[in-house]
Order: sequence, then C-alpha cells, then structure tokens
Amino acid sequence: MWQVWLIFAQAVETPESRSGTNLMSQLNALIPDPSSVDAAIENRFCVRAFLPDQVPREMLEEVLRLASRAPSGSNAQPWKVYVLQGAAKAGLVEKTCAAHDALREHPELESKFRPDYDYYPRSWVDPYRARRRQNGLSLYGLLGIGKGESDKMHAQHQRNFKFFDAPVGLMFTLDRGMGQGSLMDYGMFMQNLMVAARARGLHSCAQAAWNTYSSIVLEHIGAGPQEMLVCGMSLGFPDKDALVNEFSTPRDPVQAFTHWLE
Ligand SMILES: Cc1cc2nc3c(=O)[nH]c(=O)nc-3n(C[C@H](O)[C@H](O)[C@H](O)COP(=O)(O)O)c2cc1C
Repeated sequence: MWQVWLIFAQAVETPESRSGTNLMSQLNALIPDPSSVDAAIENRFCVRAFLPDQVPREMLEEVLRLASRAPSGSNAQPWKVYVLQGAAKAGLVEKTCAAHDALREHPELESKFRPDYDYYPRSWVDPYRARRRQNGLSLYGLLGIGKGESDKMHAQHQRNFKFFDAPVGLMFTLDRGMGQGSLMDYGMFMQNLMVAARARGLHSCAQAAWNTYSSIVLEHIGAGPQEMLVCGMSLGFPDKDALVNEFSTPRDPVQAFTHWLE
C-alpha cells in the first residue's frame, strides 16, 4: 500500500505540477471571450511573405510556453525547439538554398537528401491527391506561375528555404526513440504555437519542405544523433502588400468528414 502511495505521490508531486487550488480554478474558469479564441483559430493561415521586423524575445518565450501546454501521451512533452535568428538563420538559409539549387542541377543527389520520416505518402490517393493538386494550382495560379515554368516554380519553392524572409525560423526535432504518437503530440504543440502567435499579431507557416534537407538542418543547429527533424516553421509579422499572402484555402464542411453514430 505504501509503495503504491509513494509511486502515486512521485507521479503527481513534480515541481511543475499545479496545486489543488489552481487545478480547481482551471476547472471552473470561464473563458472570458470565446470569440477571440475562435478568431485566433479562424484567422490563422500560412503566410509566405514576412516583414523583417524583429519579434521581441519575451513574445517568443510566451508563445513557446503556451505551445507547451499542449497535451501529450503520458505527458512526455516530446518537443525540442531550435529558434534561429540573425547569423544562425542566415547561415542555414545559405547552405540549404545552395543544396536546393544543386539538387535541381544534379537530381542524382536525391539519395543524399532524405527526410527522416514520411510526412507525405509515397503514392497519393484521392481525394487527397486532388486536393493537393488543387492547392498547388491555386497558389501558382495566384502568383501567375504557369505549368512548365520550372524556373519560377523552383524560385517559389526556394522561398521556403529563406523562411519566406521571416525574422524567426523554428526547427522542431524529436528523439528517434519515440513512437509515431509523438508526431500527434507535436502537431498539437505546433497548432498551439501558431494560434498563440496569431493572437499576438504574428503569423506563421509550418514547413515540411525543410525535411528534405534534414541532414543539413540537424548539423547546422547542432542536434544530437538521437534527434530527427519533424518540421520547420517561419514566424514573424506579415507583409500585407505581398500577393502570396492573399492565398486562402477552402475546407470541406463538417458533414463531409463526420459520421454521426447513435
Ligand atoms: C506540417 C505542415 C507542413 C507544411 N509544410 C509546408 C511547406 O513546406 N511549405 C509551404 O509553403 N506550406 C506548408 N504547409 C502549409 C500548408 O500548405 C497549409 O497549411 C494548407 O495549404 C492549408 O492552408 P492554411 O494553413 O493557409 O489554412 C504545411 C502545413 C503543415 C501543417
């Protein structure tokens, strides 16, 4: 019995645990303005052109703290974040853009540049294939990039590796020993981050594009051999005059993806 109690006590009494009073107030807390939570969610979209304006360090720390309130299986909190700014960001941009150009010139280099995990399927099926195609056509259509204009396509894709000129680049890594479920946890963490950022006037763009160059990214950020690259993200204030930021994406209605069983 004592042993059981000890294990229980160890599990709940960590320095980070909340006191009973706080937990009760969380249970009873009314969200003062639900519409602003909804607005932060509704008005999050991927921005692909940023202003050079710096993001205050306190704002970044607050957004990361809020992100870490995400749930995770067994509260494992599997996230590890690298914040790149200034010379650290510029160095990664230079190396990755060079690699992206080299890969275009020498497709045989493909085996050198591999993502750490399959974010996308190896072979797409509908309706996802159709949505993906539509997404690409709409974005390139907005930017006036026609089919076959490979130079322009390459340049637009290259914008990923410049963090779309954002002042802050984020890299998210995961311990290779963790399970697939940690990627779910990570998704919740990233969504929290993007919504909390949005509530502060910031915008973001999650970027799996970086995953192709995970070997370059991991070396540059000084990650250990146990770390794999989950994703990158651009973060900053949006360029409101940029055409690319007028890109908006549709969603299927609730009835298209929900099955009600009674
Ligand atoms: C994990 C993840 C990775 C993504 N990777 C990229 C990327 O590399 N480059 C990019 O331009 N957009 C990327 N996106 C953005 C998606 O294209 C975008 O979320 C989708 O089209 C829906 O549009 P919205 O986010 O503007 O609502 C990514 C989104 C997620 C969630």
